[in-house]
Amino acid sequence: MTVIIKNAGVLSNEGSLERKHIAIEGGRITAIESELEVLGEAAEIIDAAGKLLIPGLIDMHVHLREPGFEHKETVETGSRSAAKGGFTTIACMPNTRPVTDSPEVVNFVKDKAREAGLVKVLPYAAITKGELGRELTDFTALKEAGAIGFTDDGVGVQSAQMMKDAMKIAAGLDMPVIAHCEDNSLVEGCAVAEGSFADKHGLKGIPNESEAIHVGRDILLAEATGVHYHVCHVSTEQSVRLIRQAKQIGIKVTAEVCPHHLLLSEEDIPGLDANWKMNPPLRSRRDVEACIEGLLDGTLDIIVTDHAPHSAEEKAKGMLLAPFGIVGFETAFPLLYTAFVATGKWDLALLVQRMTADPARIFRLDAGSLAVGATADLTLIDLDTEKEVDPATFASKGKNTPFTGWKLKGWPVMTWVDGKTVWTEQDAL
Ligand code: DOR
Ligand code: ZN
Ligand code: ZN
Repeated sequence: MTVIIKNAGVLSNEGSLERKHIAIEGGRITAIESELEVLGEAAEIIDAAGKLLIPGLIDMHVHLREPGFEHKETVETGSRSAAKGGFTTIACMPNTRPVTDSPEVVNFVKDKAREAGLVKVLPYAAITKGELGRELTDFTALKEAGAIGFTDDGVGVQSAQMMKDAMKIAAGLDMPVIAHCEDNSLVEGCAVAEGSFADKHGLKGIPNESEAIHVGRDILLAEATGVHYHVCHVSTEQSVRLIRQAKQIGIKVTAEVCPHHLLLSEEDIPGLDANWKMNPPLRSRRDVEACIEGLLDGTLDIIVTDHAPHSAEEKAKGMLLAPFGIVGFETAFPLLYTAFVATGKWDLALLVQRMTADPARIFRLDAGSLAVGATADLTLIDLDTEKEVDPATFASKGKNTPFTGWKLKGWPVMTWVDGKTVWTEQDAL
């Protein structure tokens, strides 16, 4: 059964937009043509005139909360939220309950993802049992079960020896170590970053070194062990500098950055509203500029959301007591498109690359390309219609976002995984 997407705007190798007709069959792209006639018959034809067709977005850092925190999100609601946001592959963090530290939990998450039947869900497994930092998990068994990398995201691995042992084993298995970089001794009792907001409200602030100390330590350990070391949610100028230098001397380090760390600084926090509380926190304008520069020069390889849903009740506990985290799937692309591409600061091709081809390359995924023969994971985007961010419309259970009311363009309207439609925005086509 052939599906044709006609009149779509497709990015050429040179970065310009060309009108193309795309045929999909058996879950793959079978043709990309300028003339519709040559494609022949189709069971279904979608007219994508005026819209942008890109490879499905890839998000290598998300929290789906299942098992254990189903009141925040489930694999199914998270998958639907991802599909609505234009994502076709997502990699989920192991800070569930129980923690994803055994093959059973890896298999549980994979089963839930299969039942949902929406996007591709790649599970990470924990570095330490229970993410407690005391004892390593069984990396070999977890890899066999289908874990794609090891991370204790949510907390930093405090012991350098533990991290070094983890990296040695992961390197032997040709698996990446993904690190939430945070030195606990520097952040106790903190909810926001050091800076004007913390000062104004008499709060103790999270210093930049709490992140960068781990980045520096782990780069040295990656050099010693030869592992592929990936830094989570980079948010400081110092981390960007350390990663840039490490790359220059050939250490196998890659890194990610979140939309909120590219768009917001601590000066933007309007008040003691926990929808502005995430870890790492919003830092200074200088840090934001360094992250943008790092993303543009390739020091930061990819964009991830760190989609971290929490319930309204949990977030209502106030800035100090509420959990860290904001949702990200359904606003990521429109936020970055509106702020950086529509304003002429970035090329559209760069934004798309950092959310598709680059994550596919660094994590060796069969995804992220729009070419004949490639998997038909695709996202159609309306670049023109302006809409306000309204958490009530989110498919995610989490409504915790600081971006409510922002007027954005670049909304995903249709998403395909393996050639199958997994999301269609009503009335958009
Ligand atoms: O903001 C965050 N939320 N940062 C983390 O490290 C954990 C995450 C979560 O699990 O909610
Ligand atoms: Zn984290
Ligand atoms: Zn996270």
